[in-house]
Amino acid sequence: MSNHTSRLSGFYKRSLEERASALQSWAQLSDTEIDVLQGSSGLSAAQADHMIENTVGIYSLPLGIATNFLINGQDRLIPMVIEEPSVVAAMSNAARLFREGGGFQTSSDAPIMIGQLQVLDLQDVAEAAEKIAAYKQRLLDEADAVGGSIVKRGGGARDLQVRPFLDTPIGPMLVVHLLMDVRDAMGANAINTAAEHIAPLVEEITGGRVNLRILSNLTDQRKARAEGMIPASALATEAMSGEEVARAVVEAGVFAEVDPYRAATHNKGIMNGVDAVIIATGNDWRAIEAGAHAYAARNGRYTSLSRYWQDDQGNLHAAMEMPLSVGIVGGATRVHPAAQVALKILGVASAQELAEICVAAGLAQNFAALRALASEGIQRGHMRMHAKQIAVSAGAAPEQVRSVVEQMIRENNIRPERAKAIVESLKG
Ligand code: MEV
Repeated sequence: MSNHTSRLSGFYKRSLEERASALQSWAQLSDTEIDVLQGSSGLSAAQADHMIENTVGIYSLPLGIATNFLINGQDRLIPMVIEEPSVVAAMSNAARLFREGGGFQTSSDAPIMIGQLQVLDLQDVAEAAEKIAAYKQRLLDEADAVGGSIVKRGGGARDLQVRPFLDTPIGPMLVVHLLMDVRDAMGANAINTAAEHIAPLVEEITGGRVNLRILSNLTDQRKARAEGMIPASALATEAMSGEEVARAVVEAGVFAEVDPYRAATHNKGIMNGVDAVIIATGNDWRAIEAGAHAYAARNGRYTSLSRYWQDDQGNLHAAMEMPLSVGIVGGATRVHPAAQVALKILGVASAQELAEICVAAGLAQNFAALRALASEGIQRGHMRMHAKQIAVSAGAAPEQVRSVVEQMIRENNIRPERAKAIVESLKG
């Protein structure tokens, strides 16, 4: 969709209204769609009442736009829903640097979900496993029979896998995995329906008893990956050469590779970027979180999801792969008006495309954190945002916020009492 650039220099300096209007023409949004983003229309309590139980209201969060992304040669503006200051700015800034190295290259697996069936009370687990293999096609056909629109759109059951657990506290267990291509859906309903539907046949074939029938959030058949390069020259700061910054980022990456305590924080930074897009598009961020962290521990030790290295010229390279079960149809994606607008801004044609954008966002966010941590630290930028929040809660009018913030920073006194006093003096 976009033959225009996402490199929107100074976007952050514009007023909220100016940003909304730039976005409106960039993504060809209607006035109603802008109203949805700004909260004057959007998800209503009545709609929310149909989404969950015991609804009493709706809860809002900021929606920002990350600029500068170039992904597989295409410019993207990325909507992010997040409560944490600095994240949107840091991600946009990182995207600008990756852009200097040609942007992100991304790819993804077919959208395969895994449904698990826990088969118990088996006389012979190995024999049951063989029978499942022998009846594979019949089981796949049975799963497709309840595949509905997903099968019509070219998805459906693809494979069966068996995983024996011979010695467990409840005796031998056979876990059957049903692999299903769910196309552009997140696919939870489709895979759960299929798993429940084939359970009686699995019991008949194996002679066992099926207990649980549920998807796995470790969606490791449905991974997306992104990589990118930043020329060393683009990384120089006042205090460090570009090569030094690149090396320090690589060192920071290795810290997370070897130490789970650091990996948890490192991956949290990645999820700052990923989750913000997941939430903006109405997807299930708990599912994505569960999959990401389980995948990070897949080799028995929790580690970093991303990798960094330098080439012979000292340029910085970054890459990441993670499971991402996202949808662009169904669920909250369809019901939530702001999620619909977010998808329109992204201009994605498939769930895979959305997954790839999420990984690029996560990698950009991760790099931004590492660069800040490995050079000046993150507190300077954070303190400015912190001061802004304090100024707003002290009652500063929108046009006063900047001067209240500047004064608190100048005085090195970022406290609610000081903010209130400055606001009072401005009134005078
Ligand atoms: C804060 O939300 C995220 C960071 O802690 C991530 C990191 O340490 O890499 C800055």
